[in-house]
Amino acid sequence: MIRSLSLILSLLLLGIAFAFTINPPYPLQIPNTFGHRYTIPADNPMTVEGVALGRYLFYDSLLSKNNTISCSSCHRQALAFTDGFALSIGVSGRPTFRNSMSLANLLWVRDFFWDGHSKTLEAQALIPLAHPDEMGLAPEKAAQKLQQTTFYPLRFLKAFGTDQITPELMAKALAQFERTLISANSPYDQHLQGKYTLTPAEKRGMDLFMRGSNREQTIRGANCAHCHGGAQFFQNRFHNNGLDASPLDPGRQEVTGFDEDFARFRVPTLRNIALTAPYMHDGRFKTLEDVVNHYSDHIAQSTTLSADLRGMIALTAQERQDLVAFLHTLTDQEFIRNPAFGNPFLRP
Ligand code: HEC
Ligand code: HEC
Repeated sequence: MIRSLSLILSLLLLGIAFAFTINPPYPLQIPNTFGHRYTIPADNPMTVEGVALGRYLFYDSLLSKNNTISCSSCHRQALAFTDGFALSIGVSGRPTFRNSMSLANLLWVRDFFWDGHSKTLEAQALIPLAHPDEMGLAPEKAAQKLQQTTFYPLRFLKAFGTDQITPELMAKALAQFERTLISANSPYDQHLQGKYTLTPAEKRGMDLFMRGSNREQTIRGANCAHCHGGAQFFQNRFHNNGLDASPLDPGRQEVTGFDEDFARFRVPTLRNIALTAPYMHDGRFKTLEDVVNHYSDHIAQSTTLSADLRGMIALTAQERQDLVAFLHTLTDQEFIRNPAFGNPFLRP
């Protein structure tokens, strides 16, 4: 009795050890400055094979109605996973409702999309797939398509221990890949590590970005970090940053139903911002200069305008240039060139 129990036990341990050797946990590197306030769902631990599969799926246009659009069509690595358009174009040829978002550092994001309507990356992944203006393919259909290939069943077997492809497993693999997209090696980060010296303009821009003005304006500040603060340069919060006096897009209100959420949007990351034009949820600003001019001169009053922007000072021409110079230090060349994030179907 005891002997057969210990036999079973050792077989079990052997099985676990075997699973780890054929599909070891993914060695995620968390930057020191970013902190550990993130969660990876217990039922979707990151593995080497899971991430590799998610990367294939991300770059595969088989996941669209007419085999022309993949996630990467609207999320291009060279543009920090945005697409360069004000609104994106998917399978239908009709523009999407809002501007494509960067996928950097999603591990720390709590509510996905501009209005935060999705709670997890697993839930998020199937939305563009099914959306008629994005990929236009019902998740079950997509799973069937993958099942019929010679390539994918084995990949799912390696990643999840079953070759039966389901939308749930597709979403899990995509989420695993997306969690690896960490950007933390910009000149600004190198400056924090003492490896890069900011130019005088970048330094002045950083000071403006990081602080608010005092009442007498002997200290001048643009107060950007109040919202886009911290190592990730974003916030898991929603604000109205004064784009319109009569906003057309209800934003966060559509999700919560609260009046105070009218025209509020998630504070997006400013990492790699020089690469992700055009700007805002509707892509209305073409350049960073336009954005800075907005904050300096054109904050529109409306009922839900953030109190932090009511006292915004008018910036001088020099200050505008300095702020833009600082924003450029957030561009992470390693992130957009990292082969591990690129298209796995392209052989080097
Ligand atoms: C046709 C263009 C298009 C395609 C294809 C597309 N996306 Fe997106 N993506 C967008 C747009 C536009 C948004 C912002 C939508 C919104 O907030 O309403 C977005 C937002 C996201 C976000 C939210 C990021 C954040 O910070 O909240 C994630 C994650 C994402 N997409 C992943 C994917 C994945 C995974 C796929 C493939 C399964 C995909 N996208 C396919 C255009 C696209
Ligand atoms: C009250 C909070 C708040 C403050 C302060 C603030 N922002 Fe923003 N910022 C936001 C929100 C919210 C958005 C998204 C708005 C939208 O698209 O409707 C945004 C969007 C942006 C974008 C566009 C991002 C993208 O991916 O399209 C840039 C660039 C930007 N802000 C830069 C700045 C700069 C520079 C400052 C300082 C002058 C600043 N912000 C101050 C809340 C803030």
